[in-house]
Order: sequence, then structure tokens, then C-alpha cells
Amino acid sequence: MPLASHDVFTAPDWWRQAVVYQIYPRSFADANGDGIGDLQGITSRVPYLSALGVDAVWLSPFYPSALADGGYDVDDYRDVDPKIGTLDDFDAMVAAFHAAHIKVVVDVVPNHSSDRHEWFRAAVAAGKGSPERDRYIFRDGKGENGELPPTGLQSIFGGDAWDRVTEPDGTPGQWYLHLFAKEQPDFNWDHPEVHADFLTTLRFWSDRGVDGFRVDVAHGLKKNLDPKFDAMVGFDDGVGDLGDGQHPLWDRDEVQDVYAEWRAVFDEYDPPRTAVAEAWVLPHRQARYSAREGLGQTFNFDLLKAAFAADEFHEVIDRNLRAAADIGGSTTWVFSNHDVVRHATRYGLPAGISGAPAPGAASTGSGNDGKQWLLDGGDPGEVDAEQGLRRARAATLFMLALPGSAYLYQGEELGLQEAGQIPDQDRQDPAFFRNRAIEIGRDGCRVPLPWTGEGSSFGFGPDGAHLPQPSWYADYAVAVESADPASTLNLYRRALALRHELECDEVLEWLEVSPSVLGFTRPNGWCAVTNFGTEPVALPSGEVLLSSGPLNPGELPGETTVWLRR
Ligand code: NOJ
Ligand code: CA
Repeated sequence: MPLASHDVFTAPDWWRQAVVYQIYPRSFADANGDGIGDLQGITSRVPYLSALGVDAVWLSPFYPSALADGGYDVDDYRDVDPKIGTLDDFDAMVAAFHAAHIKVVVDVVPNHSSDRHEWFRAAVAAGKGSPERDRYIFRDGKGENGELPPTGLQSIFGGDAWDRVTEPDGTPGQWYLHLFAKEQPDFNWDHPEVHADFLTTLRFWSDRGVDGFRVDVAHGLKKNLDPKFDAMVGFDDGVGDLGDGQHPLWDRDEVQDVYAEWRAVFDEYDPPRTAVAEAWVLPHRQARYSAREGLGQTFNFDLLKAAFAADEFHEVIDRNLRAAADIGGSTTWVFSNHDVVRHATRYGLPAGISGAPAPGAASTGSGNDGKQWLLDGGDPGEVDAEQGLRRARAATLFMLALPGSAYLYQGEELGLQEAGQIPDQDRQDPAFFRNRAIEIGRDGCRVPLPWTGEGSSFGFGPDGAHLPQPSWYADYAVAVESADPASTLNLYRRALALRHELECDEVLEWLEVSPSVLGFTRPNGWCAVTNFGTEPVALPSGEVLLSSGPLNPGELPGETTVWLRR
């Protein structure tokens, strides 16, 4: 294997151009056969991830949780869910990753806890006006007997953003705010104990060797619930649409005070712990989260939202590289995650399908986001899976040559398609239950991975899987793809190995090609060229290093990317 020109693992700025692989723990690998992915399962797959060539893993929540929102409803921020392991398992997992020179990033969920968190239970038990209630956002209801929600705010998952508790004396009581599911009460970030407790959590995991944090709903936290906003209904898609730092819920300026405190904790460690913000904010507001004094990096969902088109990719990449350079940071790229339809499927949908935003996510813009297709039944027969995969491979290979860090979502290295058809009785996502007319939920991208072409759960574990796997999953299994030199898995492996070898300064120069073709060169002569059209074009000159699909002599076929050395 070629030696990396820069040892990503030991460098303090390892995150700048890292390839980060997102693990959704309950759906990655199940060691004990209860159908739920677990930490021992993850540890058993470290050799797989090492051979894939990732620099870091990001684990979606593995904390104790009733799974009202896939684990983003946290009961205890400083423990492991007994359904998926123990703290000892966690330590063993981190040690295994570190031995393989893979960094570990964990999710931190500061906007809300679960309703089973000890503070929330105490708040309900202690009654109105108690200091316990003050750590959350409780209000009296409107109407003669307080029977109406305090305001018209709607939850991101549909329905009122307020729920009523029963007071200790058994009477119907106050209402609490939950911007997401009702099992996810929002913290009161004006309370010093909330601040202090999260610093304890950051130190707890940092002391256990965690290298960084992914910050859930980083643009939430601070709220201004002044009665003058009471008439407000809806959420501007969860984006601080006002863009002036004064939106009552999102991206308020003072949320950065929280991250300044966090930065001080990160810097207590050597190397400093890192963070990436999940912040759905307007482009000109992103720098606040990406600044060195803040969280340091922000997810950039612009490529995920873009249609597969040269002009959109060009504009998005240019804008984000400029924004990162302005603050001396590095940008992030992502096509798939646990909240959106897998990109191999999105890119194969009939033109014109779009729909409501993903919960917890902003609108997925001009590209086909797949929501409507899912709502209409998610029939795989309506997807041009071949085209979707061809485009996904081309888009990913193009993205992997860009400066910045690349976030991959488990299963995309297999070219996995969305499992769009899940029987209602098997669905888990709260969005489905709260608002099924407009939101079918995100279960289709969270179906457990296929590791082998056969077996009761395609090698996910010794027994079943907590979400049903479609029979065609067999074709995408790790074992099947490992044996096929042209598989998506082998493309990713080669691309990541080469990327390490070729890593260089975080700049690019665009090549003059044609309107449907986009290409750039990095300072060491590493070029990526994508033909976004469907007709072949002349292959640019240079030594071919890798391509996302077969090349014909002298030709770059449609919907194909090539890496060249010039
Ligand atoms: C964003 C997460 O990615 C999503 O899965 C979750 O539902 C919301 N935040 C709420 O925590
Ligand atoms: Ca298990």
C-alpha cells in the first residue's frame, strides 16, 4: 500500500482533509445476534474500515435511549446503551480504532435530552416553579384551564412543539417545548447547570480517548421565547432564515458563547479535540461555526442538495472553498447520511420528484431529494438504479479529489440503494408516526448493512435485523463486492488509498472544459474530471489513475469521473 504523504493520524490538524465514515451503530454489525448493531460488532469490523482506508469514524448516538428518534433522544450522555454494549466495550472499540490509526468522533446532542433523562424526570416530579423545571422550557398553557399550547409552534417532526405534563398531584399541568419529537424536551441553554453538564460530558468522552465531536442541531440551543413571537407557527425549515442572528429559535448569535466554552475544553487536550457542527444556516453564517474559536468545522450540505449538474457542482464548490479559505478552515463534503435518501437512489429518481425537507434538515434544494418517491411507496422499479449508481460513483470520485474533508455514510461504499419499501408495522422513525401524510421517515437509509450474500440478515449478525432487509441487498454485500474488481467497494478502496498518496495543499484550479464537464487540478498535478452529460467527450490528457466507470480509448463516457496525473 502506498505510504501516506502526510500522517493524518498523528497530525493535530488531522481533520482538515480526513475521510470520515459515519457509523449508525444499531445498523452496522450485530455481534450478539439480537438484531441490533452493537459496539462489539463495530470493533469486529475495524479491519474492514482500515482496509477501506478511512481516517476517522463518526458514531451516531450509542447512548442509553428509548430510540424515540434513533438515539437522538439521549437518556444519559455519559454511558452506553446496554442494548448495544458497555463502557468497557466502548474503550475496547476506541483502542481498536486507534491501533488501526483511525480517529473516533462521537455525536453530542445538546439541543434536547430524552424525556427519560434524570433531569427531565426530576423536572416533571418537582412541579411548577421548581428549579428542576428551569433546566428545560416549561410554560403555562393558554385557555381557561391552560389546556391549549402556549404558542402555535410546530415540531420539526410535525404536530405541536409543546406537550403537556401531568403534575405530581395528578392534574394536567404545564407544557414543555420540544422542537423535535415529544420525547425530546429542549434544554434551557440560559441555565448555568446545562452549560456545566455538557462540559462534563465533553471531558468524559475526551478522557476516554475520543478525538472529536459531531454536534447535533448546533444552530439550535439558544432561544428567545418572548411572547412577541407567540404567533409564530412553523420553523422556516429549521434554518435561521432571517440570517441576522435574531431568529427566535435558530442560529442566534449567542449560541457561539456556548461553543467558545466548548473550545476551551477541546484545547485542554493534546491534540485538541475537534468538532463539526450540524448547522442548517445560511451560507454567510456558516463561518461562525467553522471558526477556530468556535467548533472548527461545519457540515456543508450543499453538494448533497445539488442536482447532478456541472454548473451546480461548480458554484457550490467554489463558494464553499472560498468561505473556508476566508477563515483559514477547511470545508466538508457529504452526499449521504442517516437523514436523507441514499445518493445512489436520489440520482436515479425520475426528474421532478422533490418534496418536504428531511426532519432535522433543511430543504434538499433543487435536486430530487426522494421524499415524494418514498411517500408514493418507494417502489424500486421507479428508480433507474444503474444510472443512480453510475452518477453516485462519479459524484463521489469527484468529491474525493476536492480539498476538505469527506464524510461517507455506511453502505455508500457498497453503492447501496435506499430500502424504500418498509412495511408500516416495521417503521421506527418518529416522523412517520407523527405526520405520515407528509413524511415517511428515514428508516430506508438505516436498514442494517449486508456483509454476506446469504444468511438470515446477510451477515449483519448471527440472527435477524431490527429493520427488514430487502432481498436485493444480497447483491450489495461486502463479500460479494470484495470479489468483484469493478464493484463500488473496490472503487472506494482504490480511491481512498490514492487520495492518501496524493493529498496536498487545500487549493484547486479549475480546468477549462465544456459546459457539461467539470474538472480541476490540485497543486501536485492530481486532476479530477467529471462528464455530467450522457454523451462521451474526449478524455483529457494525462496518466489515468482511476475512473468511476469503464473508459473507452480516448473517451470519457457520460456520467463518469476520471482521476488523472498531469
Ligand atoms: C439531526 C439528526 O441528524 C437527526 O437524525 C435527528 O433526528 C435530529 N437532529 C434531532 O436530534
Ligand atoms: Ca446486538
